[in-house]
Amino acid sequence: MGSRRVFSGIQPTADSFHLGNYLGAVRQWVDLQESRDAIYCVVNMHAMTVPYDPLTLRRRTRVAAAQLLGAGLDPERCILFAQSQVPEHAQLSWVLGCLTGFGEANRMTQFKDKSARGGSEQASVGLFTYPILQAADILLYQADEVPVGEDQRQHLELSRTLAQRFNHRFGQTFVVPAPYILSAVSKITDLQDPTAKMSKSSSPPQGIVDLLDEPDVIRRKIARAVTDAGTEVRADEDAKPGVTNLLRIYSALSGSPVEEIAASYATSGYGTFKKDLGELVADTFAPIRERTAKYLADPDALDAVLMDGARRARQISRETMAVVRARCGLPPVA
Ligand code: TRP
Repeated sequence: MGSRRVFSGIQPTADSFHLGNYLGAVRQWVDLQESRDAIYCVVNMHAMTVPYDPLTLRRRTRVAAAQLLGAGLDPERCILFAQSQVPEHAQLSWVLGCLTGFGEANRMTQFKDKSARGGSEQASVGLFTYPILQAADILLYQADEVPVGEDQRQHLELSRTLAQRFNHRFGQTFVVPAPYILSAVSKITDLQDPTAKMSKSSSPPQGIVDLLDEPDVIRRKIARAVTDAGTEVRADEDAKPGVTNLLRIYSALSGSPVEEIAASYATSGYGTFKKDLGELVADTFAPIRERTAKYLADPDALDAVLMDGARRARQISRETMAVVRARCGLPPVA
């Protein structure tokens, strides 16, 4: 220990993470457990902010954890747990909610986007207070850094504001967390519409490569990815968004720079390039898929891993909440 603490969360909102999640978050989480004191959370309570089915949520919480383990998170090197198994998240969220202005919460652009989609009358209060629960996640563990994508910058700013406000009003309690913006390989776009982000909520199945797709399915999806007019494999965001997206994926998975890859396929045409990329993605995901399947085949063992993670997380969160209660004028819990 002694190393900087990172905390991050991911929602269990699909039956598989996709390539964008993998490159933009999961893989980088795995790397960070080597250099940081890392705590990772499957934020299943955040997944309740939109209409959901209980059995599906339960399954997806497990599947998400299994994939994270399959991708290389190691309970010996990090803490991995499910948010709902640590009750302090909801407790701190209440305290922070009482420090958040209504107007302040109302300025969160993700809430505006998400509530506009379903019609704002349909949006839950939980969706509105989502960023406050996220702040509680982070502040409970006194995280120094929070690895997230660019789209989470505003939520991180709110977490910082709430930490500072609490400290100022009630005495030094929270570390003020810094964003650790994950590298822009998260800019992976939809294979069928390379101008749109690869997204579980808006992309069609053919536009997404899932971490748990079978190798054949992966090869086929890449082979059928929309490419652009012409034949030359070259990065050009405006003229060739499809090819550029595929080059980025290739680069992220191989570690070679985009220009180098483009140069080596310059004259071979799209077909060979896509075939090789299909192999590369399928080969990267196959072992993760197999390890995930092993975890899912033994739900009791998986639940035990999560329970152990939650116990370790609680040792930290309980301490923080005890201080919080004392500072803000609440007696100890029974
Ligand atoms: N809102 C985050 C996202 O959509 C997920 C999240 C919830 C999170 N709690 C967190 C991320 C705490 C980092 C830290 O990506």
